[in-house]
Amino acid sequence: MAESAEILFSDATFLAVPVSSLIHRKTAIADMFVRLTTDRMVRVAAKGAEIDSERIHRYGEKNVRHLYVYKIDLSDIVSDLVRGAEGLNQIKNVPSDLRIAKFFSIAESVYQELMQLPITDESLGRAIRLSTEISDSMREKPDFTKLLGTVVSLGDEFTRHSLGTVVMANMIMVQLKWKAQKVVQPVTMGAFFHDIGLKELPRELLEKNPVEMSQAETQLWQTHSEIGVRLLNPIPFVTPDVLRIVQEHHELANGAGYPQRLRGERIFPLARLVSMANSMAHDVFKTGAAASQPFSMEMMAQKVEHVYATMYGGDLAKAARRIFKKEDDA
Ligand SMILES: [Fe+2]
Ligand SMILES: [Fe+2]
Repeated sequence: MAESAEILFSDATFLAVPVSSLIHRKTAIADMFVRLTTDRMVRVAAKGAEIDSERIHRYGEKNVRHLYVYKIDLSDIVSDLVRGAEGLNQIKNVPSDLRIAKFFSIAESVYQELMQLPITDESLGRAIRLSTEISDSMREKPDFTKLLGTVVSLGDEFTRHSLGTVVMANMIMVQLKWKAQKVVQPVTMGAFFHDIGLKELPRELLEKNPVEMSQAETQLWQTHSEIGVRLLNPIPFVTPDVLRIVQEHHELANGAGYPQRLRGERIFPLARLVSMANSMAHDVFKTGAAASQPFSMEMMAQKVEHVYATMYGGDLAKAARRIFKKEDDA
């Protein structure tokens, strides 16, 4: 068979997606390309046609980890991944649970919302890969599925927030070039389960706006970090790093956080990152106190300059600044 003709790469048209997110099915959901040099690429699969996985694996041997797709196809790819993960309900060992289906429909809405934001492509590619990782975890660890069900039982808003925090934490890690699994894994898991301790607090409190809480209610609310640690501690795959992230996810670099009022470098670096990701998720996905403020890049830029730098430290604020930089600021 003749090789496909080469075409020119353009940043505006194409997006890199990890190979593993694309070749799990027989038929290609989108046109897929391998990038040969800075500006040349070749098509390795045509939309709707059978995937020649042998050919793609040959590129894999040459260390090609990403395939390129047209940005306009991204929405189809995300829906496909979510549907694929939903299929897990039928797999043995994974308890069939309505909450899991609910989780994936919320995940889809989070990814769709994310695609509307003017954020960098690399961040998006990483966020999409998370769907695959979450389904892998479910396949390998039934306990994970149970915990996921607990997050979903907190309600749509909290599920959206937990997933939003995972996505934001991964975007920050992309900017910091933190790639090692020993960092990416605990941050992703810690971000996903950071608020699980809320499960033990009264429903009415969860529905209350934090600014309207009495002092006693605020104190009760602030116990959720430690409750989370207690709930996660007995689970075998939850590592000490994950527990520390959950324990310290409301500590702030200026010492104004809780529960221990830790300052600056005394905060576990991975927890400080999730602490900022938690705020960003409220701001971007409009949950919690940020729900009434419409999202804009200007608002985010202001917040990064004046709030994030003091609360989470200059290094993390710098990473956030790069995520929410408008094209013409470059
Ligand atoms: Fe929290
Ligand atoms: Fe949170």
